Amino acid sequence: GNVIGVFTSGGDAQGMNAAVRAIVRVGMFLGCKVYYIKEGYQGMVEGKDDIVLATWESTSNTIHMGGTMIGSARCMEFKERPGRLKAAKNLVQLGITNLIAIGGDGSLTGANLFRQEWPGLLRELVDTNQITSDKLVTSSRLNIVGLVGSIDNDFCGTDMTIGVDSALHRILESVDEIMTTAVSHKRAFVVEIMGRMCGYLPLVAGISSEASMVFIPEDPPEGDWRQGLCDHIRESSKSDARRTQIILVAEGAIDRSGNSIKCSDVQRVLTERLNMDVKVTVLGHVQRGGKASAFDRIIGTRMGTEAVMALMDAGPDTPACAICLDGIDIIRTPLMKAVEMTKMVGYKMNELNFEEVVKLRGRS
Ligand code: F6P
Repeated sequence: GNVIGVFTSGGDAQGMNAAVRAIVRVGMFLGCKVYYIKEGYQGMVEGKDDIVLATWESTSNTIHMGGTMIGSARCMEFKERPGRLKAAKNLVQLGITNLIAIGGDGSLTGANLFRQEWPGLLRELVDTNQITSDKLVTSSRLNIVGLVGSIDNDFCGTDMTIGVDSALHRILESVDEIMTTAVSHKRAFVVEIMGRMCGYLPLVAGISSEASMVFIPEDPPEGDWRQGLCDHIRESSKSDARRTQIILVAEGAIDRSGNSIKCSDVQRVLTERLNMDVKVTVLGHVQRGGKASAFDRIIGTRMGTEAVMALMDAGPDTPACAICLDGIDIIRTPLMKAVEMTKMVGYKMNELNFEEVVKLRGRS
């Protein structure tokens, strides 16, 4: 039967466990052996205890858990060819010829590079007597499928990444909690929302928490943002019913010249110009914590299932694919095209307008 290795890489995200669970169970159901590759690429390079045969029971009681039960790491060694050579040897020795990578764009780029180098890596391992030459036949191809696990929702080609919905729940819980104290003291709160250069989370959190203003990288404010902020907040504060102002600032928020807008800048402007009592809260990794939402459990399960099916369908010329959400459908999309578009949006953020970014990234 087929042998599959599954690993999670880069920042963890709620729903990754649901995906791992589905991969193990669907893989086993179809007669495959499934290995956990622990600690991401680090475990692939290290081998030994980090590559462990998965059992059906090992996935019990995991679907709700946040984080990733098989660990994740940022691995410098895998970025260099000698590291990838070690990883290839570890996989070949266990007969792993199918990989499912769950991570962000960086992790998926690494997987694709590995796939392209695979025949060369194998030949080098044979030439240096690290593996026997029959492996050139039995392990001739490495099939790769990527799943996008990231709270940021910054990946082109999928409407939602695994984890973003749970992160939104965490943000709303926190903002709701902040609201009670903010209202009591008639204070304004500036809340920093994590998400790299993606404003999806602050935008949707802003809509669902009645925030007064949101700063996101994709749509920097026109003109003098300080003046615009003060005008808006002064106007909004006129209503007696409005006892607080909540302003959400994306981690990557920028002005039209590309300079960052930080929570402390917003706090200073409101304090100095409007004489307001303003507090700052940075949500940070709280957003990546806690249980997976129902939505993330379901897309994790559906995407994990589709990833195994895609591996089973792969032929010699099938390019690596990413499993994505298109509306309510789970689809396969060419991995490299999606990764390249994601990188392009990152580089060109300053040149693209809001609609263009939204169109490139996916419907959400
Ligand atoms: O990509 C997920 C993410 O949580 C981003 O929102 C954030 O900028 C980054 O990872 C934080 O990375 P680390 O967990 O390594 O500090």
